[in-house]
Amino acid sequence: MSTYKIAVIPGDGTGPEVIAEGVKVLEAASARFGLDLDFTWYDYGGERYLRTGEALPEGALEDLRQYKAIYLGAIGNPDVRPGILEKGILLALRFGLDQYINLRPIVLYPGVDTPLKDRGPEDIDFVVVRENTEGLYAGAGGLLKKGTPDEVAIQESINTRKGVERCIRFAFDYCRRRNKAKKLTLCGKTNVLTFAFDLWERTFYEVAREYPDITTDYAHVDATCMWMVKNPAYFDVIVTDNLFGDIITDLGAMIQGGMGIAAGGNLNPEGVSMFEPIGGSAPKYTGKGVINPLAAICAGQMMLDYLGETKAAEAIEDAVKETVSHDLKSMSAGKMGHTTSEVGDLVAGYIKG
Ligand code: IPM
Ligand code: MN
Repeated sequence: MSTYKIAVIPGDGTGPEVIAEGVKVLEAASARFGLDLDFTWYDYGGERYLRTGEALPEGALEDLRQYKAIYLGAIGNPDVRPGILEKGILLALRFGLDQYINLRPIVLYPGVDTPLKDRGPEDIDFVVVRENTEGLYAGAGGLLKKGTPDEVAIQESINTRKGVERCIRFAFDYCRRRNKAKKLTLCGKTNVLTFAFDLWERTFYEVAREYPDITTDYAHVDATCMWMVKNPAYFDVIVTDNLFGDIITDLGAMIQGGMGIAAGGNLNPEGVSMFEPIGGSAPKYTGKGVINPLAAICAGQMMLDYLGETKAAEAIEDAVKETVSHDLKSMSAGKMGHTTSEVGDLVAGYIKG
């Protein structure tokens, strides 16, 4: 039996509700495929911060490094000033554990509605590889003369050759392993951000020489948004920086059916990776049992896939497909025709067979 130690951070808002369903589904898959998932729960989040004054306790990163993976719900609490928990927990984990890839598949499952007219599952199936430790997220900059008429705000995008290259290299490898259109699009803004994307573009075409089987392509970020709506089938794998990746994957989530189903993985291929639904803590739905747990369930599926448990992961994906095509009225909170835990039961039921 394969044993995996998994750290679970349900977090804030609806995080605990969706993670409970994710764990239910992971346990169903474990039972069927003979896995032993050993979950350890952590209370990091807004409530703990308000109680203790610390976002992450000392030693948290060292502690989390012992796990095979981290399963995260959502971070964000309306009673805490924006930025504190995001930077103090989510970004601190991504940066501290050097999870330099944020992998976000944009897949439309049969039976799920997309807001794109006349588009279906055959049109929407691509993956965004988002750089996850640098760029405008690095926190470089500051405020001068704050609160005076002469105030200056500077926020710089940090792009290192090492950081850019490892991300691009991952994207090429991923595109090859995915083995679909074998096309990698660099999404940037070379016409304006002539320093940062000069480095990205040079690195991209240098690394590309090692991947003659992959077709290379470039699109500005604004054009990428346009094509994602106009002709999403154009894309296979997109690689981009941290902020552009953040923005285009919210657009991606919408065309794949909404935040209710969009999942992602923060990967450190040499360390501990963390899997999460890409949406937030949705405070207004907290405790109502109406939030869609499929994004968290799909994050669990990505986690098993990443751990090499491809059969169990496939079974979860198949069960999700069954659920969305037969049982759910909508992906949106409150409109599914089922409660949060009923959706978890449905998926787990398909896995048990
Ligand atoms: C995401 C989120 C985070 C980000 C926020 C909560 C810091 O929007 O995971 O996409 O910007 O990366
Ligand atoms: Mn985001």
